[in-house]
Amino acid sequence: MNIDLIKKYNQPGPRYTSYPPATFFHTGFTADDYKKHILKSNNEQPENISFYVHIPFCSKLCLFCGCNTTILRGEDTVKAYIDAVIKEIETVAGLLDEKRKISQVHWGGGTPNAISLDHIERIMKTFGKYFSYTDNAEVAMEVNPAYLDFKDIDRLAEIGFNRLSIGIQDFDPEILKLVNRDVSVHPVKDLVAYMKKAGFEGVNLDLIYGLPHQTVESFKKSVAQAIEISPDRLVTFSYAHVPWVKKAQKKLETYGLPNPEEKLKMFDAGLKMLTEAGYVSIGMDHYAKPDDELSKALKNRKLHRNFQGYATRETTGQVYGFGTSSISQLNGAYIQNTKLLNKYIESVNASGFAVERGYELSKEDIIRRDIITEIMCNGYLNMNEKADEHNISFEDLIRIVDFSEDKLQKFIQDDLISFNKNILELKSEGFFVVRNIAMAFDPLLKIKDAQYSKTV
Ligand SMILES: C[S@@+](CC[C@H](N)C(=O)[O-])C[C@H]1O[C@@H](n2cnc3c(N)ncnc32)[C@H](O)[C@@H]1O
Ligand code: SF4
Repeated sequence: MNIDLIKKYNQPGPRYTSYPPATFFHTGFTADDYKKHILKSNNEQPENISFYVHIPFCSKLCLFCGCNTTILRGEDTVKAYIDAVIKEIETVAGLLDEKRKISQVHWGGGTPNAISLDHIERIMKTFGKYFSYTDNAEVAMEVNPAYLDFKDIDRLAEIGFNRLSIGIQDFDPEILKLVNRDVSVHPVKDLVAYMKKAGFEGVNLDLIYGLPHQTVESFKKSVAQAIEISPDRLVTFSYAHVPWVKKAQKKLETYGLPNPEEKLKMFDAGLKMLTEAGYVSIGMDHYAKPDDELSKALKNRKLHRNFQGYATRETTGQVYGFGTSSISQLNGAYIQNTKLLNKYIESVNASGFAVERGYELSKEDIIRRDIITEIMCNGYLNMNEKADEHNISFEDLIRIVDFSEDKLQKFIQDDLISFNKNILELKSEGFFVVRNIAMAFDPLLKIKDAQYSKTV
């Protein structure tokens, strides 16, 4: 990897987990708009349903955390929250076509396994009461290994989960202590081996690089340990330092954070080790074994993604999110719930919804979203084909994404992409600056330094 080149492109920019980015969501979008879009969604790409459940509780708060979470409250609060989530699910289920099937369920947080698994079972039973699942549905949960026992793994399998994503962050207990995180009680290797025996189809590990006291050497040790455990998928997140949003992160500055160059070296070391170990690099920071569905989808240019991460086109549906801060991603709109726990409970109890903001996509936004997703996921864009798919002329496509070849010149000169006959193809190093390349097709882009983290 050419570090100078990566440094050159390291500027603030959207992550494009949605298009337009969440900074465009506004409070003029209401629960009534959401209802209208749920009904519409039954006729737009109706094949699949994806559900997301957010559990905003953790037993302890990590100083680096960028997620929407709070310290675990008493059982009464947790129960009141779960009751509200069930009411929200029932409200949405009442508007969804009952013939539609669930192809994906994702539980995130926070730490879903910080609460009693009885609560989790109640919610899963609610899904089962209203809908059936597709044959290859992915039912996944993010878990913190510090609070995971072998019997919990059995129970999660019984409840219907078939994928687990384990938050490791770093294997070094000293680094975890510094960021206020508990270590895993059981060796992660044993937990993963047990998951495989219990029938889980996929296990993912999350690592972060860029935390205080991490060095290239220490990060390499964590990656080596992860490779030994042999998960199906692995993510190396670049630590996003946004202390103006997450005040607790400020403390990490006092320990000294690795500089951007060190971070890039950590990323590069991880990339080399993981690809040498046989993992396929997916997007910027994800890796999967070659026989994993994600690797196959990348090969066939059928990779897709949503706020929950990468997925195949086959399993992703429109996403209906439940719980605080959750984002629903429908064909025609994005909807985000309030982040505040009490407000969420009160609002759902009163009306079944807790919408805080959203965004209705215009026809042109939908085309832009498709183009940006293709670049971000598959590193490939055939502009003629896209114009045909959307039933518009090539000239209209160019106008809608405000495209000009000039915008691609620097990427061509730096050998990051090829562009021939209106086909854009990323070269392997192009994926490291994929956000910058996508930005060339984004006419809504307004770079506000304070809002976006750096692109690399
Ligand atoms: C909701 S957490 C995962 C589940 C569980 N709470 C845990 O920590 O093990 C999702 C992932 O986001 C990543 N993450 C959290 N804060 C981050 C930040 N500031 N920058 C980059 N990644 C972050 C972590 O790798 C974490 O595993
Ligand atoms: S990283 Fe996970 S465990 Fe730590 S505070 Fe964030 S959500 Fe909670």
